[in-house]
Amino acid sequence: MSAVEPVAFAEWQGRLSAECMRLGQIRSAVALAETSSTQDAQETRAARAGTLVTAWRQTAGRGRFGRNWADTQTAGVAASFVVEAQAGERLALIGAVAAADACDAALGSSRESGQRASVGIKWPNDTVVDGKKLAGVLIERRGDVAVIGIGINVSQDRFEGELAHRATSLAILGARVDRIDVLTALLRALDVALTATDDDLIARFHARDALRGTRALFATPEGPLEGEVVSIDPMHGLMVRTDAGERFLPAASTSVAEWGRARVQSR
Ligand code: BTN
Repeated sequence: MSAVEPVAFAEWQGRLSAECMRLGQIRSAVALAETSSTQDAQETRAARAGTLVTAWRQTAGRGRFGRNWADTQTAGVAASFVVEAQAGERLALIGAVAAADACDAALGSSRESGQRASVGIKWPNDTVVDGKKLAGVLIERRGDVAVIGIGINVSQDRFEGELAHRATSLAILGARVDRIDVLTALLRALDVALTATDDDLIARFHARDALRGTRALFATPEGPLEGEVVSIDPMHGLMVRTDAGERFLPAASTSVAEWGRARVQSR
């Protein structure tokens, strides 16, 4: 990846289509000038498995649990990959590993100075650096296909308000990269991850696991529960040490409500 003049939108379609010709799983791409959400675009709804839909600008992106994904004009990557339906936990891992690998590639190939940042995954699928979110993944099932939505913060100089403490970007981390290069890296990484075995995906998750050994507040069907994460089986759930002893929290009914305090010393 190179830090040069921004690649014009007119070049995106050709660059992505050329890349798809080299890949085995994602065989076509559609680049939209603007859409509310790449998850909801007509092109995504009509797409067959093996399609990437992206947008130069996404104005009303959606996140997990009905949250918004901030419109940062043309500073981020917004990508929706239409793939064959499979277990949601596996797709979440595929998205997590691919997003983290793409961010790592961007940080490794172009940074202004200093040490390379450590790119982690906060279960189930946030890409994080120093506790701040760099990328997010949204999995949605639609009949025979599923849509893996991935947003990556690329060239934002800063985040305002509440996001200032929770979000980061490749630029803030010192990487001056063009969005199309990040998107191409993500396309390649996702294509590879789609054919990985569960064991391989799990091993790659563990290599980047940022949640284990830290304290977090979890939302569970029984209410909020706080504790230290002892271990994570990314497809099934987490073992958490609480004041009342160790508890297994199933992946299907658990989410991280609050995280970001100091790492637990005893790790
Ligand atoms: C999250 O962290 O909550 C998931 C964020 C997912 C954002 C991406 S951007 C591309 C795709 N389109 C959307 O509307 N959402 C996903």
